[in-house]
Amino acid sequence: MKKGSPGFPFFLRKAFIPQFRLETQGNLLFRTSSHILSLAAISSTKLTIMHAAITAVAGYLPEDKLTNADLETMVDTNDEWIRSRTGIEERRILKDPNLATSDMGAEAVKELLKKRGIEAAEIDLIIVATVTADMHFPATANLIADKVGAVNSWGYDLSAACSGFIFALTTGAQFVETGRYKKVIVVGADKMSAIVDYTDRTTCILFGDGAGAVLLEPSETHGVIDHKLHVDGKGAQMLRQKAGGSLHPPTHATVDAKDHVIYQDGQPVFKAAVKGMADVSYEIMQRNNLASEDVAWLVPHQANLRIIDATQRRMGLPPEKVTINIQKYGNTTAATIPLCIRDWESKFKKGDNIILAAFGGGFTWGAVYLTWAYDTPNAD
Ligand SMILES: CC(C)(COP(=O)(O)OP(=O)(O)OC[C@H]1O[C@@H](n2cnc3c(N)ncnc32)[C@H](O)[C@@H]1OP(=O)(O)O)[C@@H](O)C(=O)NCCC(=O)NCCS
Repeated sequence: MKKGSPGFPFFLRKAFIPQFRLETQGNLLFRTSSHILSLAAISSTKLTIMHAAITAVAGYLPEDKLTNADLETMVDTNDEWIRSRTGIEERRILKDPNLATSDMGAEAVKELLKKRGIEAAEIDLIIVATVTADMHFPATANLIADKVGAVNSWGYDLSAACSGFIFALTTGAQFVETGRYKKVIVVGADKMSAIVDYTDRTTCILFGDGAGAVLLEPSETHGVIDHKLHVDGKGAQMLRQKAGGSLHPPTHATVDAKDHVIYQDGQPVFKAAVKGMADVSYEIMQRNNLASEDVAWLVPHQANLRIIDATQRRMGLPPEKVTINIQKYGNTTAATIPLCIRDWESKFKKGDNIILAAFGGGFTWGAVYLTWAYDTPNAD
């Protein structure tokens, strides 16, 4: 009798599915590695949940700053309007025209390897979340792997705009949870200055350049616990880069029409972001039975302070549990969350319940629940 045939006993069929999961009423009780299980193995083996834990974090920010005062000389805006409407005071800009997203990502990865004390050759996989790839192909992940000397790694890019990092983190975690890989690097990096129109005051005030990276390794006790991710392609009407892809390849006309820069209809995006990020953060708390006091930190995407405030209020969290660096870097798209994790690393304690939440272009949104895996030596 064949394994998948209808006559084959149900429990054995289920047991032969790679990544066997036992669920009750939607709650995951355990998940094995991709090894084939037999019924005997189930009864005689102690099954442990393998999590993908963040074991190191690093980031890179270009030195050049673009302040609100600088923007006042470029477009019809003012510092007070930008601060009160967005919370942003300055952003970093990668000015050297010979440097791109992969250069920032590579710097973040090099710092990550140094912090963790491992060699680039030990990396199994690099996933890069970005909407500003150096070029359509090869992937930015290829370029970063080459720049850091990750000779045994493969990799790919993932496009989910401002939710890119949590989408990539969730994806990378699967490879660790199955037991397939021991060291996965997730990078969030964007050179937004490459696609910002610095004559459009409604968008140029928002974005900055930067990169962040985390290392995922197996842990029996801590790591990514749950995720809730969404896409809605109707959002493309309100936030997108109109040209440069296969729909509207670059032409003189697309360049003249400024169709290669960010197009955003701010108000509906703002409303969708407030609802999307707040709802999903609340939902992930509820389905993991987390009360407000159980959550140690909210690490939100940094698009607008008012969106972050709405999310924090919906979760019932006090402001001191929310990581905010938007005033220094603006919206660095896929890099905001890893840069926040980097900036708050020394405050996170082993076992802390942390919610990452994001909303992004096109639309994408979601939340990840993880437990923090380490105490930082010599932290305050
Ligand atoms: C872009 C954003 C900051 C604009 O804030 P807002 O409160 O919605 O402002 P509005 O678009 O309603 O504009 C209000 C007024 O300010 C003006 N304005 C817009 N940008 C301005 C600027 N930089 N400086 C001064 N005035 C500005 C508008 O022209 C408008 O003037 P009007 O009333 O005379 O027409 C806000 O909509 C936003 O954050 N949107 C979502 C951003 C986001 O999350 N993006 C992607 C997800 S990652």
